[in-house]
Amino acid sequence: MFLKLLLLLSLVSFSHSSTVSCPNGTDYRQLTRVFRYISGFNSSLFSNCSDVVTHIVLPSRNLNGTVSWNPLRNLTRLRVLDLSNNSLDGSIPSWLWSKPGLVSVNLSRNRFGGSIRVIPINGSVLPSVKELNLSFNRFTNAVNLTGFVNLTALDLSHNNLGVLPLGLGSLSGLQHLDISRCKINGSVKPICGLKSLSYLDLSENSMNGSFPVDFPNLNHLRFLNISANRFSGSVGFDKYRKFGKSAFSHGGHFVFNDSKIPTRHHFHTLLHRNPPPRHQIVKSHRFKHTPLVIGLSSSLGALIILIFAVVVILIRRRLKSARMKSRWAISSPAPLDFKMEKSGPFAFETESGSSWVADIKEPTAAPVVMASKPLMNLTFKDLIVATSHFGTESVISDGTCGPLYRAVLPGDLHVAIKVLERIRDVDQNDAVAAFDALTRLKHPNLLTLSGYCIAGKEKLILYEYMANGDLHRWLHELPAGETNVEDWSADTWESHVGDSSPEKTNWIIRHRIAIGVARGLAYLHHVGTTHGHLVATNILLTETLEPRISDFGINNISTTGDDTNNHNVEFDVYCFGVILFELLTGKQGKEENVKSVRRLVKERRGEEALDSRLRFGESVNEMVESLRVGYFCTAETPGKRPTMQQVLGLLKDIRTVSR
Ligand SMILES: *[C@@H]1O[C@H](CO)[C@@H](O)[C@H](O)[C@H]1NC(C)=O
Ligand SMILES: *[C@@H]1O[C@H](CO)[C@@H](O)[C@H](O)[C@H]1NC(C)=O
Ligand SMILES: *[C@@H]1O[C@H](CO)[C@@H](O)[C@H](O)[C@H]1NC(C)=O
Ligand SMILES: *[C@@H]1O[C@H](CO)[C@@H](O)[C@H](O)[C@H]1NC(C)=O
Ligand SMILES: *[C@@H]1O[C@H](CO)[C@@H](O)[C@H](O)[C@H]1NC(C)=O
Ligand SMILES: *[C@@H]1O[C@H](CO)[C@@H](O)[C@H](O)[C@H]1NC(C)=O
Ligand SMILES: *[C@@H]1O[C@H](CO)[C@@H](O)[C@H](O)[C@H]1NC(C)=O
Ligand SMILES: *[C@@H]1O[C@H](CO)[C@@H](O)[C@H](O)[C@H]1NC(C)=O
Ligand SMILES: *[C@@H]1O[C@H](CO)[C@@H](O)[C@H](O)[C@H]1NC(C)=O
Ligand SMILES: *[C@@H]1O[C@H](CO)[C@@H](O)[C@H](O)[C@H]1NC(C)=O
Ligand SMILES: *[C@@H]1O[C@H](CO)[C@@H](O)[C@H](O)[C@H]1NC(C)=O
Ligand SMILES: *[C@@H]1O[C@H](CO)[C@@H](O)[C@H](O)[C@H]1NC(C)=O
Repeated sequence: MFLKLLLLLSLVSFSHSSTVSCPNGTDYRQLTRVFRYISGFNSSLFSNCSDVVTHIVLPSRNLNGTVSWNPLRNLTRLRVLDLSNNSLDGSIPSWLWSKPGLVSVNLSRNRFGGSIRVIPINGSVLPSVKELNLSFNRFTNAVNLTGFVNLTALDLSHNNLGVLPLGLGSLSGLQHLDISRCKINGSVKPICGLKSLSYLDLSENSMNGSFPVDFPNLNHLRFLNISANRFSGSVGFDKYRKFGKSAFSHGGHFVFNDSKIPTRHHFHTLLHRNPPPRHQIVKSHRFKHTPLVIGLSSSLGALIILIFAVVVILIRRRLKSARMKSRWAISSPAPLDFKMEKSGPFAFETESGSSWVADIKEPTAAPVVMASKPLMNLTFKDLIVATSHFGTESVISDGTCGPLYRAVLPGDLHVAIKVLERIRDVDQNDAVAAFDALTRLKHPNLLTLSGYCIAGKEKLILYEYMANGDLHRWLHELPAGETNVEDWSADTWESHVGDSSPEKTNWIIRHRIAIGVARGLAYLHHVGTTHGHLVATNILLTETLEPRISDFGINNISTTGDDTNNHNVEFDVYCFGVILFELLTGKQGKEENVKSVRRLVKERRGEEALDSRLRFGESVNEMVESLRVGYFCTAETPGKRPTMQQVLGLLKDIRTVSR
């Protein structure tokens, strides 16, 4: 608005100062020829007295007639062309788009028609146009945007396109796309690859496709309107809240499922902002809302709305920060009733923007095989329900080997669900055999598979949920190695460690974790398995901070022979050494950290490497000794590394544990 005003002012002031007669400069002369058949054009508007015309900005000038485009060819410096909101007609020559240096074209609200395309001929360059507004005109299906490589904003709304413009899907830099009200019939899929979009308006067409699978990445979108179309699919509560009610109204057959609702109260508060369209709600009692401002005077109403908005914002902030802090903390995300798509494939987005697809028709057709409770009869559908459609609020982590979700299954079973993206291509029978073998491995320091589910190519495994998260988080993300259990009481600490000094307590706990991991790993090696991928994030902590190794044996499933050296005992011992270093130094197990700790130990300066959060008291010798164990484990020559049995013995000698 302000810019427009400025523009207007500059035009006005400049036409007032135009008393000086202008030399018949080349550009000027061309310009008058462009508009020679147009009524309402006053050439004094352009008596800039400058030879070089860079902008033609004539919006809302009552210009009426047909533009003579050819003289424009000679305006070599033209950058901006705005003839919007006039009564101009005719078609636009294809060379105009390839005019070097032209970056912004606004011809909206006119009567232009014909085709829009680039005809590649010898020597012609690709369009450099960045912003193109052709809305409210008479363009038809002859639109081919191939070659508009630099386009960032495109408005073709209110034309008679009938089909999606050709080449639209290749405009990788497009941020703003408006093709509303173009009578477009057909799938939205061709544009699903537009990665840079932040604004998307598809409203009032007859487009079809499945939401959100066939759409461009919704995480980057700030604005979305798909109303009045023929889409189908399911709309998560987060999307609903982000884009608002009107974005989806009459958009097709949507199912609204609400994920992430911490409590009933918050839920209601949030919903008051954007109640979903009632006719599309499957189960509506939760969405009931009372008329809030009816009957209040408008100023009082506005005040209340303001306060309300502030409260909502505050609550949302608090929710968000609470969520960030306590992804692992126990709460019962009671699944809400919702209806699913009738048949698959089912696609799920993750926070990092990737997605995974369960290619099955019936969600009940993929059973969840539970090792300990074989009679439970769970299916993939139960997992969908318990994770709120694998919504982002159920995500615990989104690591390199696939997303990890939390869920409460029927029977109050609190589980973590991992999607094993790396073994997507492993044969189903091989995976089943491997999973069955893994469920039989039992040890207090192993987090045994409690079940699995194979849905199409996707393999999901279920673990018991560990409220204290993983070792990486405990060591590196929480302040001074604390737990994140809110109702943690000192009594529990007392019962496990008979010493009150927090520093010493801390060391005792870390030593105990090291022992536990060593035990679990020694057991794995004893039964002839290796882990292959032992890192701090794979070590989960029980409520009493007892470590449980997870993810063991999974790597072996996908072994094809190329990375076999990760699957030997010596490699596991090395990884254990790295974890021991992490426990003692508080630093992440990166290669450079390992190297520097090894150097200090070699120079008998191990004490300098210790975590400053572990105060140095009488225990310092124990810690330095433990560092030496880590040093042996990380020996460069695999053959020189001790076995896990030996490591366990050494660690036990350093500090006698009562167990
Ligand atoms: C510009 O050229 C036109 C003819 O081409 C002539 O009639 C007009 O007087 C000239 N104007 C000036 C200011 O030179
Ligand atoms: C063109 O604009 C100038 C200044 O705004 C004005 O004096 C002149 O009468 C206008 N000519 C026509 C034909 O409208
Ligand atoms: C005339 O000059 C002004 C300010 O220098 C500029 O904004 C405007 O675009 C110019 N008009 C033309 C036709 O070049
Ligand atoms: C278009 O121009 C008319 C007058 O010609 C004006 O009333 C209207 O506000 C303009 N519309 C826009 C969108 O600028
Ligand atoms: C444009 O000009 C034509 C004929 O010259 C006339 O019929 C029409 O009404 C004009 N349109 C506007 C919007 O002035
Ligand atoms: C462009 O300028 C050249 C010479 O400068 C001239 O020969 C040619 O006719 C002009 N083209 C148009 C379309 O006016
Ligand atoms: C195009 O012109 C219209 C009407 O004058 C204006 O509302 C709009 O902001 C312009 N868009 C661009 C991209 O310049
Ligand atoms: C295009 O022009 C129309 C009106 O002419 C305006 O409403 C719209 O915002 C413009 N689009 C962009 C992307 O500026
Ligand atoms: C669209 O334009 C490109 C080049 O600009 C051309 O190669 C392609 O064949 C055109 N597509 C159609 C269907 O005309
Ligand atoms: C394009 O260029 C090639 C060689 O550079 C030439 O053989 C061909 O005739 C040219 N085509 C046109 C349409 O100019
Ligand atoms: C597109 O934009 C980039 C960066 O602004 C520029 O280097 C490139 O030449 C442009 N491409 C065209 C075809 O103008
Ligand atoms: C869309 O296209 C299909 C097949 O091409 C046709 O059957 C249907 O009637 C069209 N719908 C509309 C609203 O134009």
